[in-house]
Amino acid sequence: MSFKQPLRAGSVIATLDVGSSKIACFIAQMTDDEGGFKIVGVGHQASQGVKSGVIIDINLAEIAIAQSVHAAEKMASKTIKGYPLRDVVLAVPSTSSDSHFMDAHVQMMRQTVTENDVRRALAKAQMKAQKDDREMVHTIPVDYILDGHRGIQNPYGMSGQLMDIDIHMVDADYSHLKHISQCTERNHLDIVSLCSSPYAAGLSTLVEDEIDLGAIVIDMGAGVTSYAVFQSGRMLYAGGVPIGGQHITSDIAHGLTASIADAERLKTLYGSALATISDEHEYIDVPMMGEQNSKADQQITRSLLINIIQARLEETFEMVRQGLTDSGVDAARCRRVVLTGGASLMPGVQDLAQRILSKQVRCAQSLKVQGLPDATSGPAFAVSMGLITYYTERPYEMPMEIASYGDSRSIPQRFKSWFKENW
Ligand SMILES: Nc1ncnc2c1ncn2[C@@H]1O[C@H](COP(=O)(O)OP(=O)(O)OP(=O)(O)O)[C@@H](O)[C@H]1O
Ligand SMILES: [Mg+2]
Repeated sequence: MSFKQPLRAGSVIATLDVGSSKIACFIAQMTDDEGGFKIVGVGHQASQGVKSGVIIDINLAEIAIAQSVHAAEKMASKTIKGYPLRDVVLAVPSTSSDSHFMDAHVQMMRQTVTENDVRRALAKAQMKAQKDDREMVHTIPVDYILDGHRGIQNPYGMSGQLMDIDIHMVDADYSHLKHISQCTERNHLDIVSLCSSPYAAGLSTLVEDEIDLGAIVIDMGAGVTSYAVFQSGRMLYAGGVPIGGQHITSDIAHGLTASIADAERLKTLYGSALATISDEHEYIDVPMMGEQNSKADQQITRSLLINIIQARLEETFEMVRQGLTDSGVDAARCRRVVLTGGASLMPGVQDLAQRILSKQVRCAQSLKVQGLPDATSGPAFAVSMGLITYYTERPYEMPMEIASYGDSRSIPQRFKSWFKENW
């Protein structure tokens, strides 16, 4: 597909992922005009004022965002002199966004299909779908039908008179975006694009064949488990359940009457998604809540801890499976699942997911991009990385870019004025 790559060599773009447990900011500099980039700044902070991906205390969230952004800027200033961070691509959590399906048809202006025809059809669909309390996040052409012939992947240059386009649209809750934009504005940042979190996670971790042949990415965060279905190079669906690693931690805290901090430590040190026979004979010390003396520790078997974890993970994957069934997309055709997010680091999670989803499951490989520090190359940062890929590679799926065709200003300029006028 076309629509020009929005950034030229040397230009800079930042990303912001406001998660339930951490807020991450990446800064990338383009190394060529074709979308190649290197990471020049990374900042991440424990989240504050965010629950299940949604802002619940704007003042706390603003402070945590500022800390994360300043850390990234400080690192970037070593590479780029006098660089003030401005343009950011924002991750939109699946808990405040929805997938919709539409079709649009246009009469061709000329004998062959041009970019203008595609934009007209997509813009028409956007006008029809626009609602006052929602903001459009993605407008993704899924299938082109030219004079009744389905299955066309790239219609440009093909001859025909009438074109139908099947479209996958993602929109998001306006009030959530408004709250985030208040935080970014106070930090002097301009949001230039939005991207659904699981979509971004997929773009940074799926290989091209998986995106083409069909795969599902499941991003296992602290407060949300989101998923996106990919096929034929496109994202067909995005959804999520408001359950994540924090729920596992609080189940452990409740089940073992331990503090949240101890429960988190036990989870990461001894946790697993599946128990083995030997776990019944392995004992773990659990500090009693509020008790300083280690003599008061209770002893439990490791299998008790694992049973608590397994129950919550099973419930989560079952909800994901149900969500996929309810979505109406043919997820059965996707034989592969890729797990991302911090909670996917739990040992045994791959086998458990495989058992419940009846698909081939793999955990995401560490992210490999020039300049990215090892500490931030794990699956918890897949969304941050994917936001850059989205912005540089898929301008034709950005609703504002589609709506403002014919406008001679650059994409970032158009986005900025759109968000300023409308939010
Ligand atoms: N080694 C590990 N084993 C198990 N769980 C882990 C491990 N490391 C991190 N986690 C869990 O991963 C979660 C954080 O993941 P992540 O950073 O992807 O979440 P987030 O992006 O902040 O949240 P969300 O996307 O849900 O808003 C926490 O619940 C944490 O306990
Ligand atoms: Mg996340």
